[in-house]
Amino acid sequence: TLPLWSWHAIAFACGSIPFAFLLGRLGGVDVRKVGSGNPGASNLGRALGRRWGVGCFVLDVLKGAVPVAAAAALDGRLGAGSGPGPAAVWVTVAAAAVLGHVFTPWLGFRGGKGVATGLGATLGLWPVVTGPAVLAFGVWVAVAKVSGYVGLASVVAALALVPLTGLWAWVLGVAAAEAGVFLALVAAVAALVIVRHRGNLARLRAGTESKAAWASGPA
Ligand code: G3P
Repeated sequence: TLPLWSWHAIAFACGSIPFAFLLGRLGGVDVRKVGSGNPGASNLGRALGRRWGVGCFVLDVLKGAVPVAAAAALDGRLGAGSGPGPAAVWVTVAAAAVLGHVFTPWLGFRGGKGVATGLGATLGLWPVVTGPAVLAFGVWVAVAKVSGYVGLASVVAALALVPLTGLWAWVLGVAAAEAGVFLALVAAVAALVIVRHRGNLARLRAGTESKAAWASGPA
C-alpha cells in the first residue's frame, strides 16, 4: 500500500495543473494578463468565450474530484462511513487538491480562486459532501445568472456550502464527530475561496466589478 501522504501529493499535483493558463495559451492569450488576471475558468471564458470557460470549468472540477474519489475507492484506509479518523485524512486530500490549484507551483504559486476545484474536491467526498456541493453549485448558477457577477456567485455559494453540509449530514444521520470533520473541510475551503475573492468584493462595493456576459446570458 502507498503511504497515506502520497494521496495528498497526487491530489496537490492534480490540483496544480493550470488548465486556465494552458487552454489560454492554446487560444492565444495569457489569462493572467487579461480581464481580472485570474487564472481560472471564469476569466478564460471572459477572454475567449463561453465554450472555453465551460471546458476549463469541467477540467478544473475533474482535477478536484478524481483524486479525492480515487483515494477513497482505491485505499481502504480512507472514505466516508469509516469513522472520523479516516474521514479526517480524506478531507485533507480534498484540501490538497484545492491548495494545488490556488498555489500552483507552475505559475509562481499564483493560481486561481479555488471555486471549480473546490466544487470537484467536495463532490468527490461521497456521500456526505456530494449533495451539498451539488446544491451549492445550483446556488452559484442562480446567483451568476441573476446578478451577472461570477465572483459574487462564488462567495455566496461558498457561504451556502457550510450550512448545507451540516443539514445534509444530519439528514444522512452521520455521526457528529464525522460530520464535524466534513464541516471543518467545507468551512476551510469556503474561507479560502472568500479570501481569494477579496478583490472581487472590493470591486463589487466600489461598483467596478465586471459582469460576465457569458455567465448571465442564455444557456
Ligand atoms: O472562480 C473565480 C470567480 O469566482 C471570479 O473570477 O475572474 O471574475 O475574478 P474573476
